[in-house]
Amino acid sequence: MGLFNRIYLKNEEEIELLRQSADIVGRTLAEVAKVIAPGVPCTYLDKIADEFIRDNKAVPSFKGYNGYPASICISINEVVVHGIPRNNFLQDGDIVSIDCGAYKNGYHGDYCYTFAVGNISEEKRLLVERTKESLYKGIEVAKKGNTIGDIGHAVQSYVESFGYGVVRELVGHGIGRKMHEKPDVPNYGKPGRGERIVEGMVFCVEPMITAGSHKISIDNDEWTIRTLDGKPAAHFEHQLAITKQGTELLSTYKYVEEVLGIK
Ligand code: MF3
Ligand code: CO
Repeated sequence: MGLFNRIYLKNEEEIELLRQSADIVGRTLAEVAKVIAPGVPCTYLDKIADEFIRDNKAVPSFKGYNGYPASICISINEVVVHGIPRNNFLQDGDIVSIDCGAYKNGYHGDYCYTFAVGNISEEKRLLVERTKESLYKGIEVAKKGNTIGDIGHAVQSYVESFGYGVVRELVGHGIGRKMHEKPDVPNYGKPGRGERIVEGMVFCVEPMITAGSHKISIDNDEWTIRTLDGKPAAHFEHQLAITKQGTELLSTYKYVEEVLGIK
């Protein structure tokens, strides 16, 4: 167990700062949600997010992370994650995952939502709905005394019942002073395996679910991750803290879903 392998447990004060960073992410996603429509340039979404994060005296966590060139990831249809906003446009029928991170007062917020652009196919609608549901299945068992493997198992068994795939190469993660900390939080696994979940842990659960095979490829840009079979993928992420009171979601979809008119 080296210095970089340990799990940094957080106290109440640190969790409060993480809550604030996550809140900025939630409100940034809502700003982006307001303008999602067919014909909108992806660079415009990135600009909205970048400006809103900075207006809140935070810094986009993603920009410059391992050389990543933008403030959000925009992953459309068969792009699973890490899509770079370029001179491309949203189109009617797309599903688009917007992944966003904000750094403030020394702590990161990081989470993601998958949106429909205009009218989407029934196949895509179900994929998005079930991927989101799988995240909540994982969160349900993300509690003190359970293990990280319980989370992956809950996600995997739910989505595989529909014939979907779980991406293996990318996983959820601890989060704090660094965007990616231990533990890894795979979206697959066996009950009772992996680290024990204890008070003070803060981590992101982020199922990346494919409509077909779970196999992926990476583009020459060394970022864009796609399904190998070209079928669509969806991605949702929440950031949670294990506190004395139980499991708390630091992230929320309430701002986004107010914009979307859900709830
Ligand atoms: N949100 C992603 C994650 O959860 C990180 C995006 S990679 C970046 O791991 F380079 F864009 F930051
Ligand atoms: Co993440």
